[in-house]
Amino acid sequence: MNLADLNKVALAMTAPGRGILAADESSGTIKKRFDAISVESTEDNRRDYREMLFRSNDAMKKYISGVILYDETIWQKAKDGTPLVKLIEAAGSIPGIKVDEGTQALPNCPGETITTGLDRLAERLKKYYDQGARFAKWRAVIDIDAAKGIPSYTAVRTNAHALARYAALCQQAQIVPIVEPEILMDGAHDIDKCFEVTEFVLKETFQELYYQRVPLEGIVLKPNMAIAGKKSAKKSSVEEVAEKTVKLLKNCVPGAVPGIAFLSGGQSDEEATAHLDAMNRIGGLPWNLTFSYGRALQAAPQKAWSGKSENVAAAQRAFTHRAAMNGLASKGEWKSDLEKKAA
Ligand code: 13P
Repeated sequence: MNLADLNKVALAMTAPGRGILAADESSGTIKKRFDAISVESTEDNRRDYREMLFRSNDAMKKYISGVILYDETIWQKAKDGTPLVKLIEAAGSIPGIKVDEGTQALPNCPGETITTGLDRLAERLKKYYDQGARFAKWRAVIDIDAAKGIPSYTAVRTNAHALARYAALCQQAQIVPIVEPEILMDGAHDIDKCFEVTEFVLKETFQELYYQRVPLEGIVLKPNMAIAGKKSAKKSSVEEVAEKTVKLLKNCVPGAVPGIAFLSGGQSDEEATAHLDAMNRIGGLPWNLTFSYGRALQAAPQKAWSGKSENVAAAQRAFTHRAAMNGLASKGEWKSDLEKKAA
C-alpha cells in the first residue's frame, strides 16, 4: 500500500469547494427514483441519465471531486461509445465504486441488518482498479427504534467490523475506502437520540478500524449528520444541527482522517446545503468537511430531465446549480439568497 497516494486521493475527494456525487443507486433504488418521474428503468435510460450528469461540464469540472458508481455503470459506455469512466476522468473528477452488495437480515437481531460483500472483495477490487476506480464505498445501515432496543450492540459491532475489513481490503488494493456507517433518519427519534447513537456507532467503527490496522490518513468518512428523525415532532434549527454534528465529530473522529463527506439521508436539497454550510462557518476543524450527496444533488435534475432528451440542458443546469450551492457550502460561503436568484 502506498499511503501517501491514498492520502492524496482522500484529500482531493474532499478538497474545499468540491464534493462527491453519489450516483451509485442500486438497480432497486434507481427504479424507485425513475418511478417517481415516470421513466422506465431500462439499462439505456439509466445510462442516458447518468451520461447527462457526467457531461455537465461546469458542475463536474468545478464542483464534483469524485463520482460513486454502481457496478453496471462502471462498465457502461456513453451513447457515442466513450466509456462513462472516461467522461468522469476527462472532467478532472475521480471515479469511485460502490462495492457492498446490500444488506441482509442479521441473525438473532430482528429488524436489523448486516451489509454483505466481503467474500471475493479482493478480486473485485483489482478489476475495479483496472477500470479506473480510485475509491470505493461500503454502506452500513443502522436504524433507531428505541422501543425495540434498536440498534443492538450486536448490529453496531458487526457492521463496524465489516466496515473495517472492507477498508483494509480497499487500501491493500490502492483504493481509498469511503467508510459509511449510516444512521437512518426514518424514525421518530429526536436530535439528541441521533447524537447518542451516532456517537456509539462512530466510536465502535474507529475502534474496529484500529483493530484491522487501517491507517486513517487513507480513508474518507461518510457519516450522517446529528439530526432528528423524519417522524419527530421536534424540528432542529440549522445552527443546532451544525453545532451538534461538529461536537459529535470532534468527539469521535481522529484528526488523522483527511476528510469527511456527508450523506444527505433524506434531507431536502436546501437543508442539506444549509447544514453543511453552517458547519463550515464554525471553522477550525481538523478535517475537510464536504458532501457526498445522492438525493440532495439529484432530485432537482431528475425532475427536470424526466426521461426526455429535450430536457437535458435544463437538467444539467439544475444539477450544476445544486453542485455549485454545495461547493460554496463546503467553504462556508453559501447564502440562501443564491437559491432564490436561481429560482
Ligand atoms: P443520499 O445523499 O441520498 O443519502 O445518498 C448518499 C449515499 O451514498 C447513501 O449511501
